[in-house]
Amino acid sequence: MPHNPTAWWRNAAIYQVYPRSFADGDGDGTGDLAGVRARLPYLAGLGVEALWFTPWYVSPLVDGGYDVADYRAIDPAFGTLAEAEKLIAEARQLGLRTIVDVVPNHISDEHPWFKAALAAPPGSPERELFHFRPGRGPGGEEPPNNWRGEFGGVPWTRTTNADGTPGDWYLHLFTPGQPDVNWAHPRVRQEHEDILRFWFDRGAAGVRIDSAALLAKDPDLPDFEVGKDPHPFVDRDELHDIYRSWRAIADEYDGVLIGELWLPDAERFARYLRNDELHTAFNFSLMSCPWDPALLRESIDTTLASHADVGAPATWVLCNHDITRTVTRYGRAGDTGFSFAGKRFGTPSDIALGTRRARAAALLTLALPGAVYLYQGEERGLPEADVPRDRITDPMHERSGGVDPGRDGCRVPLPWEGTEPPYGFGGADTWLPQPADWAPYTVEQQDADPASMLNLYRTALRLRRELLDAGPTGLTWLEAPAGVLAFTRSDGLVCAVNLAAEPVPLPAHTAVLLSSAPVESADEGGLLPPDTAVWLRN
Ligand code: NOJ
Repeated sequence: MPHNPTAWWRNAAIYQVYPRSFADGDGDGTGDLAGVRARLPYLAGLGVEALWFTPWYVSPLVDGGYDVADYRAIDPAFGTLAEAEKLIAEARQLGLRTIVDVVPNHISDEHPWFKAALAAPPGSPERELFHFRPGRGPGGEEPPNNWRGEFGGVPWTRTTNADGTPGDWYLHLFTPGQPDVNWAHPRVRQEHEDILRFWFDRGAAGVRIDSAALLAKDPDLPDFEVGKDPHPFVDRDELHDIYRSWRAIADEYDGVLIGELWLPDAERFARYLRNDELHTAFNFSLMSCPWDPALLRESIDTTLASHADVGAPATWVLCNHDITRTVTRYGRAGDTGFSFAGKRFGTPSDIALGTRRARAAALLTLALPGAVYLYQGEERGLPEADVPRDRITDPMHERSGGVDPGRDGCRVPLPWEGTEPPYGFGGADTWLPQPADWAPYTVEQQDADPASMLNLYRTALRLRRELLDAGPTGLTWLEAPAGVLAFTRSDGLVCAVNLAAEPVPLPAHTAVLLSSAPVESADEGGLLPPDTAVWLRN
């Protein structure tokens, strides 16, 4: 079925729930489905159209749940399958669709398939579901190839044979607890197609596909060579056939497929969004982009052009559970764009400046054509937390040799009310410690402040919905002073963002609809202060 031109997901605001840290219903310090159910009115009141849940399945949580031991059951720490079904139904009644996270590249080493493979001898059918290989060098002591893991380090772990001798190695692009499955095997394809049906049958409106560009491997698992095309495990052509079969299933349910694709080449990225493949994918280009007008404009133009080529809507993402939180990034003196390689302990950030820019960025992304993803806490301007080293759980930290702080700083349990931890999250023994100065980020405090980030998001999301009813298409850049991004849409909305150091005149308008900070002297034509965005009617 071709992409439906009026489908809900084309311009939805989608809220990412990280269940472990959203709200804790049973008081054990870990978020859960009961906590989410209790807060559904908050999410509906925010004005988003859908919720994306990061993995909630049974998992040893070696990689925050992206190590799935049973795709058809909820981890007992979060609740039960019956409760997930209730949550999906209750959310739908409040107008919120549910997107589940499917992790097809790898499974947990505690998944029955992998346990059976380890128990079976080399060359057995059980092992064909994975990538087992003998090592290189004398005695097979060297890994089978030169690949580097996605979290750093060697992505191979050696097994031990039943008789205690060293055995074959298995491939895991992430941690050893996440063996990669072999997508050339028909059983792997069948199993994942069944998993898609399982969740669509339970009311999921869409599926987010984890590490979507990594599934297919060169069957020879050759050494990686710089510049050699195709890459042995990234963005291989075989993937498109896999996603065409997924699309046929999604179409039966009118479900949406959303790819997590980290591909720098916009044209290669867009190939996944052709009519019979994925509906949409996360576009990480804006988030990786520094707070710089020329680079932001280039990112927006490239994104829109490459999506237009395939008739797919763009998506806009400023942060997620893998990324340094927006206000912290934008408050840095150096590079304000995100990169995995750039993360270091103790990088200073001016949170007031970062917050001002994040407010402006919120209005920018919410005005762009396409869908927007919000990550829990972003709507309150939550900064990255400094998690003490001895409390870090993210494997990225250890696998980087302790250099990378990992991603726990953006995964700390949310504050809801009160003035000290756990801020109404639930149990006091939160799985990651909450900072002592997070009272300003509670809903309680932000509700009471008309100028809070939360109220800015609520107003922007409401206006966005109302304006979308007029069916805006495309974007036209307006002439603007140096350092200013200004565009208009077909529905008459003008969005202007001032990234220059001085105030600039507002573009021509008949009314100011919303601004991320007060705009000056609107009566006299108006000035737009630095690091401020405004929505105008022309
Ligand atoms: C991407 C997910 O967003 C990230 O959290 C996870 O660690 C990797 N994929 C591996 O599943």
